[in-house]
Amino acid sequence: MKLNIAVLAGDGIGPEVTQQAIKALTAVAVECNHQFYFKPADVGAIAIDKTGDPLPNQTLELCKNTDAILFGSIGHPKYDNDPKAKVRPEQGLLALRKSLGLYANIRPVKAYETLLDKSPLKKEIISGTDILMFRELTGGIYFGQKELSSDGNTASDLCVYHSDEIERITHLAFKAAMNRGKKVTLVDKANVLESSRLWRRVVQEIATEYPEVKLEVLFVDNAAMQIILNPSDFDVLLTENMFGDILSDEAAMLTGSIGMLPSASLGADGPGLFEPVHGSAPDIAGQDKANPMAMVLSAAMMLRIGLKEDAAATELERSVDQVLASGFRTGDLMAEGCTPVGCEAMGAELIKALGA
Ligand code: IPM
Ligand code: MG
Repeated sequence: MKLNIAVLAGDGIGPEVTQQAIKALTAVAVECNHQFYFKPADVGAIAIDKTGDPLPNQTLELCKNTDAILFGSIGHPKYDNDPKAKVRPEQGLLALRKSLGLYANIRPVKAYETLLDKSPLKKEIISGTDILMFRELTGGIYFGQKELSSDGNTASDLCVYHSDEIERITHLAFKAAMNRGKKVTLVDKANVLESSRLWRRVVQEIATEYPEVKLEVLFVDNAAMQIILNPSDFDVLLTENMFGDILSDEAAMLTGSIGMLPSASLGADGPGLFEPVHGSAPDIAGQDKANPMAMVLSAAMMLRIGLKEDAAATELERSVDQVLASGFRTGDLMAEGCTPVGCEAMGAELIKALGA
């Protein structure tokens, strides 16, 4: 099969991890008899430097006309430390999510048996963790009206949700739960927020259409605690945009490193976007230290969910398991007795494991 893949490597460690994912995809393409056409485009700080726009029109057009989007990471410290910056790299990603209607962000959090020692949490707590997070991605406080008073002393961000926005992601979450542990945990702050009370009402109504799935509700502060106290109690976790952003970084620590977490962002139709959960990590960018596994696992999600290429996806995931079992580790995963490797060497090990 011939498939077009838009490649938005972005900033920081984005380009180096993306390069390894492309190598791995090229290897599975040969093995599975596919042809992938990679089409690079700029996004984020690099795009601002070149064009003044974090999401140039050319990039958006390419993304609208492709089979899938592979996204590295964006962000640059020069914007983080400047509250007055008018354009920011992150706006590129948010605009892309909104323009393509990528409302469902899916983040699997699995404890790797080979990495149990790397988590700051006790082995017996994280062993068996397998959470599938569904984060609403195009609504809520991220996209509500933002205001700064003329004297610069008062600011507000509005959190708005419409029931339609809640319904569509809730159905996806319940359908996913049907094929897993048959449990959905809705995380909200319904004791304080009106928008959360709407989430709760809508989700409770939809739950009646899935009688086999158990619905549990947790306030977000309690959920933050339960994720580290009892992570294996979660199956599918469903939540709004901002809570999902925060909880997914927290949950990443269960796996030992945020360098292991992939994600998929999907819309009603059109291409999905597949990106690692980690950011641009400017402190290690360009030093061949980054862990490319989250990116390779994002490429696997792209194959499975975006392109319906299950066998090729399984191959990529298997290569990650095999390389971890062989003891190769980037800095974030390093442990006694393991072999330290850089980003590129890790990519090469993955290719070897793919048998290419
Ligand atoms: C994420 C990131 C983004 C978000 C940033 C880069 C805008 O943290 O994908 O989790 O907040 O959604
Ligand atoms: Mg985040």
